[in-house]
Order: sequence, then C-alpha cells, then structure tokens
Amino acid sequence: MSTNDRVLFFDTTLRDGEQSPGCTMHHDEKLRFAHQLALLGVDIIEAGFPIASDGDFQSVHSIAREVGRDGKSPRIAGLARCKRDDIEAVARAVAPAARNRIHTFLASSDLHLEVKLRMSRQQALDQTGEMVALAKSHCEDVEFSAEDATRSDIDFLCKMVEIAIEAGATTINLPDTVGYSTPSEYQTMFETVRARVPNSGQVIFSTHCHDDLGLATINTISGVLGGARQVEVSMHGIGERAGNAALEEVAAILSIRKDQYPFTSGLDLKQIGATSKALDQIISFTPSPNKAIVGKNAFAHASGIHQHGVLANPLTYEIMTPASFGVVANTIVLGKHSGRRGLEQKLKDLGYNFNHEQINEIYHRFTALADRKKSIYDQDIVALLEAESAPTV
Ligand code: KIV
Ligand code: ZN
Repeated sequence: MSTNDRVLFFDTTLRDGEQSPGCTMHHDEKLRFAHQLALLGVDIIEAGFPIASDGDFQSVHSIAREVGRDGKSPRIAGLARCKRDDIEAVARAVAPAARNRIHTFLASSDLHLEVKLRMSRQQALDQTGEMVALAKSHCEDVEFSAEDATRSDIDFLCKMVEIAIEAGATTINLPDTVGYSTPSEYQTMFETVRARVPNSGQVIFSTHCHDDLGLATINTISGVLGGARQVEVSMHGIGERAGNAALEEVAAILSIRKDQYPFTSGLDLKQIGATSKALDQIISFTPSPNKAIVGKNAFAHASGIHQHGVLANPLTYEIMTPASFGVVANTIVLGKHSGRRGLEQKLKDLGYNFNHEQINEIYHRFTALADRKKSIYDQDIVALLEAESAPTV
C-alpha cells in the first residue's frame, strides 16, 4: 500500500446533516459533537454554513477555536456559495483553526444554472475562477464543489474543474447532489475527469453522495475506486432528503472488506459507538433498528437457530464484532422465535444456574409467555422465575 491509498474522511454531519428536518443543532451541541468527531479521528470537519445565520457563524468559529486548536486536530471547514460575502464569512469563521478550509460551490448542471441561478455556462466558469481565487487569497486550503456534477455535461464539468484548479483549489468535490448516479457511472465520472483535466494531478478528488436511491454508500466506495481520496459522509447518514453516505457504513466497508478495497483511514473505529450516541442525544430521531453498525438490532439475534449459532461461535452470523466499533450489543434477544439455548444463556447472564430439567420446565412457560408478549425483557424472565417460587394461595 502507498500513501495514495489513504482515504480522508470529511464529516458533514454539522453542515449537510444539520440542514435536514429534525437535525437542527444549537451552538453547544455542535461544539460537543465536533469534539467527539475529533476523537473519532475524522480528517476534516465541515462545521457549518457561516453566512446562513449569526448562530451558525458562531458555531463554526467556536469549533475552529476549540476543536481545531493544533496541527494534529481535524481541519475545520465552512461552506460558502461562490459569492464574496459567503467566502469572507467562512474565512473569518474558520480563521482560529490551526488548519482550516474554505469550501465553495457552484452548480455545474444546465438545469441548475438555467432554472436556479439564471446564469450562462460562461458566467459560471468566470465566477468559479474569480471566487476560488478570492477564497485562495484568504486560505491556502480551498475545496471547490461542482454542485449536481452527476447530471452535468461532462465536457463542461471538466472545464469548470480545470478553472477551479488553476485558480487555486486543492480539493475538487464531484457531488451526486440528488442521489441519481449509479456506482459504475460515479466511478467512470471520476476516471474521466481525472484523465481529461490536464491539471487534475495537483488536487485531491472527493465524493459526496446522497441516498435518494439508497446508493450513497456504494457510490462513495465507487468514487474511491475511480480515484477519489476524500469521502464526504455524515454520522447515521443524516443530510438533505434521504441523507448522505453514512460515515459508519463507509468506514466499516473499508475496514471489513480490505481484501476488496485496500485503503486506509485515520479513524479510530472504536469511537463509532460513542459518536452515534452523541448524535442520538442531539437530534430528534435515532437510526432505524436495522441500520448497519449503529441500529439497535445490528448485532442482535432473536431466532433460535441464529442464537444457537452465535453462542457456539459469533462468526456464524456476525461478520464483525460490536466491540470493534465500540458498540454495546444486546446480542441475545428473547421472543417467540428463541430457542432453549438462547434462554439458557440469558438465565446464565442474569446469574441463574439451572439443571437441564429445570430449564425444560422454564422454557415451557417461557414459550407460553412469548406467544402472548411480543418483547420479552430481563424483568419478564425474572418475573417468570419468581412466579414459580411464589407460594400458592
Ligand atoms: O449535495 C451537494 O451538492 C452539496 C454541496 C454543497 C457540496 O451538499
Ligand atoms: Zn449534499
């Protein structure tokens, strides 16, 4: 493996994530979460959109000052449209960080240029050059995003990227803004842009995928196969509409399937559980129970066959350990599909030691209870045992 195999993790939970319904965060919550992202080891924190409000400016500024304090801290970025006021606001907000970034974006698709911005292609190219140069005059590290890149004319996209690099961009992001691309298309777009743009070797390319078709994670990985070495992700995949690529999923794929994707990152995967919990405490919804890695069922087994297998050897039904992601798992969940071994293990975990016959008898009463009650908690088991020993009247 060479240094070229290192993938930078750019976390946008506090920007794209925070923009989505139910995910608004206050200053102190953003700061607390940014500290956790630093423990997780992300390379870049996109802390917000400073021009959006005074509150957002203050949050980005505080994160730059407190979380981006030294050369080993994550780089702190803020988002700006390709507009002077936006760029200057980001420059001021990220100034206290030891390592900072101005992230500026302009649409590259005709649809966005015509309908949203009412701008010609030439105007867009001119604005890209001018605004990236302005950003560069404030900050050595400038990221340029061609919004809606995946629905853009490829020749025009290449021209825009070339101009952004000439003007001083150090990272080029090619977002799938509306989650429309397929994995092979996304990979090919990076390969084509890198091959056609003469100065492309000077920059790092970045992915930014939305999940409208449920493809954000695999598209992100495909972008890396196409040569991107930065991935823009968010915790739990929160973000506009169906969200962004989930940090924990991309990180798990790169870690568990190194045989297919031989890339490294600076993440401490054991911090994923704590980062997930920190987000749960801030936003108004938790991930669905079956969400990979962080959902409460991600490492749970309810059926008798699975419980038997996992108790004999977790590898039978688990491809990774919850501990390696810092997740505390409720491995054995009792219900009407559970078997004798699952119950036996639960009794042991609760500190009981019964012989074979006693377990048979308890199992009999347990299945009757499980037929009536959908979820069986530890206290239900204890109550079942106490009912047995209670004097009959
Ligand atoms: O989805 C998108 O295109 C964005 C850009 C601002 C990077 O979020
Ligand atoms: Zn986005």
